[in-house]
Amino acid sequence: VHKFQINLRGMIELLSDHLYSQPQVFIRELLQNGTDAIRARQKLEPEFNGEITFELSERGESRTLLATDNGVGLTEDEVHRFLATIGESSKRAARGEQQQDYLGQFGIGLLSCFVVSDEIVVISRSAKPGNPAVEWHGFPDGTYTIKTLDADLEPGTQVYLTARTEHRELFTAKRLKETVQHYGKYLPYPISIRNQSRSTVLNDIVPPWRMEFASAGERRKELLQYGKECFGEKFLDAIPLHSRDGAVDGVAFVLPHPQSLNSQRTHRVYLRNMFLAERADNLLPEWAFFVKVVINASDLRPTASRESFYEDAKLEKARDALGSQLRSYLRDLAEEQPKRFEQLLHVHDVSMKALALEDDDFFQILIEWIPLETTQGEMRLKDLRDLPQIQYISRTDQYRQVSRIAAAQGNCVINAGYIYLTDLLDKYQELNPDAPLVKIEPTDLVESFTELTDDEAARIDRLLMLAREVLLPWDCNVESRHFQPVDIPAMYCVDEEGTFFRSIKQTQEISAPLWSDLLGKLSARESTKFRAELCLNYKNQLVQQLLLIEEPDVLRRAIEIFYIQALLLGQHPLSNKELKLLNNSLLEWVRWGVGLYQQQKGKQ
Ligand SMILES: Nc1ncnc2c1ncn2[C@@H]1O[C@H](COP(=O)(O)OP(=O)(O)OP(=O)(O)O)[C@@H](O)[C@H]1O
Ligand SMILES: [Mg+2]
Repeated sequence: VHKFQINLRGMIELLSDHLYSQPQVFIRELLQNGTDAIRARQKLEPEFNGEITFELSERGESRTLLATDNGVGLTEDEVHRFLATIGESSKRAARGEQQQDYLGQFGIGLLSCFVVSDEIVVISRSAKPGNPAVEWHGFPDGTYTIKTLDADLEPGTQVYLTARTEHRELFTAKRLKETVQHYGKYLPYPISIRNQSRSTVLNDIVPPWRMEFASAGERRKELLQYGKECFGEKFLDAIPLHSRDGAVDGVAFVLPHPQSLNSQRTHRVYLRNMFLAERADNLLPEWAFFVKVVINASDLRPTASRESFYEDAKLEKARDALGSQLRSYLRDLAEEQPKRFEQLLHVHDVSMKALALEDDDFFQILIEWIPLETTQGEMRLKDLRDLPQIQYISRTDQYRQVSRIAAAQGNCVINAGYIYLTDLLDKYQELNPDAPLVKIEPTDLVESFTELTDDEAARIDRLLMLAREVLLPWDCNVESRHFQPVDIPAMYCVDEEGTFFRSIKQTQEISAPLWSDLLGKLSARESTKFRAELCLNYKNQLVQQLLLIEEPDVLRRAIEIFYIQALLLGQHPLSNKELKLLNNSLLEWVRWGVGLYQQQKGKQ
């Protein structure tokens, strides 16, 4: 039987290039080991006050960092078993009910020191009585030396690291202070940096969200101030967060500006009070993109890179708990402070709508509040409750086509072309089948126009026949009805697919022959059934006048102009052919008008 050999240099490269995103993580690992050691000592001596100290020294070109803790220390035997065995951890024995107590778990963290230093020196004295101090030297080629010391040291551990040239800048007081604060701001033991005889404590120990405040108002003020210090932003509100599962607590700050669904937000996420990551992707529900959080989890597992949480049932429960707190915050705000809620809605329109689609309770609150663009001005669903019928159109371009006519008819139509709005209204309809809310297509509007009487139909028949012939090349059927407002002679209507064919036609005009041919086949197959319709307004004065005219040429030109004008009214982009038509007809009418004028003048 042979034993695996491990190439330590290779392992260290693997860790530094792939597991640890930045070289300064060795500070995090030192803090983590020191904290665990103090905690272990407190299990032996419950009243014990632990502390961690960093000290820099410089001799010639070489910079050394000394990290000291007064934790449980190591016996010689433990050095061999834990410190010098990769993948072995004294905390593994504590798995199970006590696992929460320790930050370390994998038995590889110390290797991160080799990323910045070519030698690790550890001097340690165990708190267990009767053990001498030991001095250990570890090297990246996988060798180490160990000797016992005669000196009567206090229990605890000292780690010495000497900067490799490319990482010297990490071994300066400024960088060290920043890095220690970054990772260790809320660690529960004082962490100081010692400079000659002066020593400064760098951490706060009690994070602001765990502090007691005189009133809720005071708390909000202080937390908002804290949010500003953390992220440099003035937030709209601060929401306390808690979850028993995962032992999570913290605070969510409501962003003062909209945040897009997939933009990356930076949070501050702590694991057992030590900084873990700037991303909280799997700790917060997806729709929570209107907040930034500072949050600590004491009973969730880190991934080996210690940069996010391990996805398990506990994490899922914690996520649900946080989600429901954010929801109840919104619900309470809507009830108690409608002005603030409205402001929030205005800023985070999209995420609020996304949340409402996912969550029925929140849906019931939100749906009443959403500002709606309607043919009767800006409205809320609650303002519309007493109307006999409310219609909505799911595309803005179609809404524009019909809005004038719908308004003139006294119909209330909602423009549901905004993101998520159609889905929300569909959902409303589903949940309230009796509500007078209907989805319409622009063609439905034509159907709602009043039919002609038999007499009227007979009178206009000749004009319709001619008009159909004129508009045949435009794939457009012609009908006539009564509709409001009477000053519009004709309305152009096209359903969803019809708009598609219109755009195919336009593409054909400008694209290369082969492609245009293919498109041609596609549209030729469909163009047999009309998708578009021009509806002449029977009571319109001009239409009535046309009924008295016999001259086919005049009628043709009038129909062409009606067609173009109706397209423009519906805000349809004109094709090249239609533009040409517009041009020619206008010029013809002008020529004709000028001719008439001259004739009259000649008579005078
Ligand atoms: N400051 C310290 N005081 C006492 N023991 C220590 C100290 N630093 C390291 N050790 C011992 O060395 C072992 C290995 O440390 P290392 O950081 O590599 O792994 P870990 O902390 O157990 O797990 P992780 O890989 O998650 O950090 C620890 O389990 C602990 O027994
Ligand atoms: Mg460790």
